Amino acid sequence: MKKVVLTGDRPTGPLHIGHYVGSLQKRVQLQDSGEYEQFVMIADLQALTDNADNPQKIKDNIIEVMLDYLAVGLDPNKTTFLLQSQIPALYELPMFYANLVTVSRLQRNPTIKNEIKLRNFENNLPVGFMTYPISQAADITAFRAKYVPVGIDQLPMLEQTREIVNSFNRIYKTDILVEPEAILPDKEVCYRFVGTDGNTKMSKSLGNCIYLKDSEETIRKKIMGMYTDPNHIRVEDPGKTENNPVFIYLEAFAKDSDFEKYLPEYKNLDELKAHYERGGLGDVVVKKFLNSIVQDLLRPIRERREILEQNKSEILEILRKGTEYSIEYTNETLEKVKDAIGLGYLNINLNNK
Ligand code: TRP
Repeated sequence: MKKVVLTGDRPTGPLHIGHYVGSLQKRVQLQDSGEYEQFVMIADLQALTDNADNPQKIKDNIIEVMLDYLAVGLDPNKTTFLLQSQIPALYELPMFYANLVTVSRLQRNPTIKNEIKLRNFENNLPVGFMTYPISQAADITAFRAKYVPVGIDQLPMLEQTREIVNSFNRIYKTDILVEPEAILPDKEVCYRFVGTDGNTKMSKSLGNCIYLKDSEETIRKKIMGMYTDPNHIRVEDPGKTENNPVFIYLEAFAKDSDFEKYLPEYKNLDELKAHYERGGLGDVVVKKFLNSIVQDLLRPIRERREILEQNKSEILEILRKGTEYSIEYTNETLEKVKDAIGLGYLNINLNNK
């Protein structure tokens, strides 16, 4: 049996280059290796945990996220797409898992802590938001996923999932739940991708994203307006490349062949960095170079997306088929979980239609 890979995204907006370098790129790679069974989930239930008052936004973004998936090269013949809210097991499993997790354990989750602050949830925290790591553990374990390609923000969710798996298997004397591992991006600068404003995280709510679907002109404006080293005022001034988002993006995207093509005065990023640090290299030159590279990356994605947009009903059909398959797939896990706990009283077979 092939090892299972599963990831998901909240459909709260179109996907951006942070998603691309943090996970999408890796998913395409895993898919094309042919070595795994891969599931990619649109996490609309999780999106509702902080958008309960705006289900329309979530609904509208389901197709946006599907378009992004297909545009970057995820292929429905090789990857199963599914919509979280339509999978019964993903509602049932958290009910069992919640008994294995303490409130104080949830409160210690650093990602949750941070997100609570960002959303001003300190005094009106929805229980569903607080407990979404339990729901995410259900997502991962329902598919018996071994690998989860994610950025570093998701590591606490995987840690929580492993704890649930271990408690469950120990208490109910079974080995049915699989302990998952994260697959981080190849480059460390992609573990958590900096925003165009220099903020440590690219995020829609911070307004510092470059979206996969952005037009050529929008991308250019965003890049030319990027935050750099604030002390690099005149061209002659020595500049800092560390923590400089323009150089971080180059670290993520620039290949030596890009230098040959657009900036042949330099062989590679090290030479460009050395010049910037010495002084005598202006931000505009570096930003223009970055713009050329990002345009080359996003142009084919955008063009594919525009074609796909003409076929929305076909795309929803792909999602429907994948979701149906996923219902059966996860019901197998659910049935085993209930058996392990000893809840098989009435012998009801979930996949019997
Ligand atoms: N928490 C993830 C995000 O914010 C989305 C997600 C939901 C997920 N369920 C998952 C990711 C399971 C990986 C595995 O983007």
